Amino acid sequence: MKALILSGGRGTRLRPITHTSAKQLVPIANKPILFYALEAIAEAQIREVGIVVGETKLEIQEAVGDGGRWGLRVSYIEQEAPLGLAHAVKIAGVFLGDDPFVMYLGDNLVKDGIRSLVAEFKQLQPNSQILLAKVRDPQRFGVAELRNGRVVSLEEKPPNPKSDLALVGVYMFDKTIFEAVHAIKPSSRGELEITDAIQYLIDKGYRVHPHVISGWWKDTGKLEDMLEANRIMLEAITSRVEGEVDEASQIIGKVIVEEGANIVASAIRGPVIIGKRCRIINSYIGPFTSIYHDTLVQNSEIEHSIILDHSRITDIGGRLEDSLIGKSVEVFRSDGKPRAYRLMLGDSSQVGLV
Ligand code: DAU
Repeated sequence: MKALILSGGRGTRLRPITHTSAKQLVPIANKPILFYALEAIAEAQIREVGIVVGETKLEIQEAVGDGGRWGLRVSYIEQEAPLGLAHAVKIAGVFLGDDPFVMYLGDNLVKDGIRSLVAEFKQLQPNSQILLAKVRDPQRFGVAELRNGRVVSLEEKPPNPKSDLALVGVYMFDKTIFEAVHAIKPSSRGELEITDAIQYLIDKGYRVHPHVISGWWKDTGKLEDMLEANRIMLEAITSRVEGEVDEASQIIGKVIVEEGANIVASAIRGPVIIGKRCRIINSYIGPFTSIYHDTLVQNSEIEHSIILDHSRITDIGGRLEDSLIGKSVEVFRSDGKPRAYRLMLGDSSQVGLV
């Protein structure tokens, strides 16, 4: 069995972060989302992994390398443009050969991993196994309609969903999927949809086995989803202090302070993770916050946020909440006259002022 991870695409809903970086590399509890997928695949005893990459190819290659860190052998498959999930399968034909495979969307997080799901697929040997989860907003996803436990129809982001069962971004296929991806035509949004390919399998009488998952799952396409994923992953951490915490600081609850980080005269209320070489000075870091490596927080308060690496948050006065701050961002108090907000924001930035 092989694995195909999809890590191309544009990530338009996470701009401006995704103007410059891959959305699959945003850290959740200080670990890039994509690494959770690689761990889940390794845990399911799969060794051969193809990663479909687009514009952000170099960044992804740099982060993942040859996959040896997870005991995996990783190859990269270039997609010239994000032409759809089924298009990604099509161009991965040479890598996949006739082997059955798991397709894992690189921006999805499945908390309980995929080990038992892969075992179920191997045991039942359907042509495809899809994972479904009950959601409150099915129109954002591929939606499945089941009758007597069988899949009868699949629709991609329907305005009037026939059920509340969303397609989770982890699919299992045998080689019949190639017949399907070659037969289907692009959808109205111009993409070769995997939902249409699976519908093709159903229509042709191939076996598509649905598994409704009960565990936590998230498509991290939007800011609120990222913050929720961060919350769930932070809840599962075990405290560990590898950096330095001075006597004037207070650490409460589950907190990880990574190597080389320095906490000075600050209050950290977990669950929180502070990355390598960060400096937290005279500040408050509240629950559900993760701060990635080499960031400085001084005379400031932050809660329920994700801060990326090499940023500087200093003297901000109010409290930063529900925020996603990119790399090398500076947020500071502006004391110059006249008193005014002075901003330099990238395209599609969002600023909430009080
Ligand atoms: O997350 C689950 C949903 O994922 C399913 O419910 C939908 O049926 C499925 O179509 C998909 O919807 P999204 O709109 O969320 O897909 P997105 O465009 O975000 O792409 C998912 C991942 O695949 C993301 O990591 C980018 C990558 N990708 C996407 C496209 C369109 C590629 O590598 N190549 C592509 O051509």
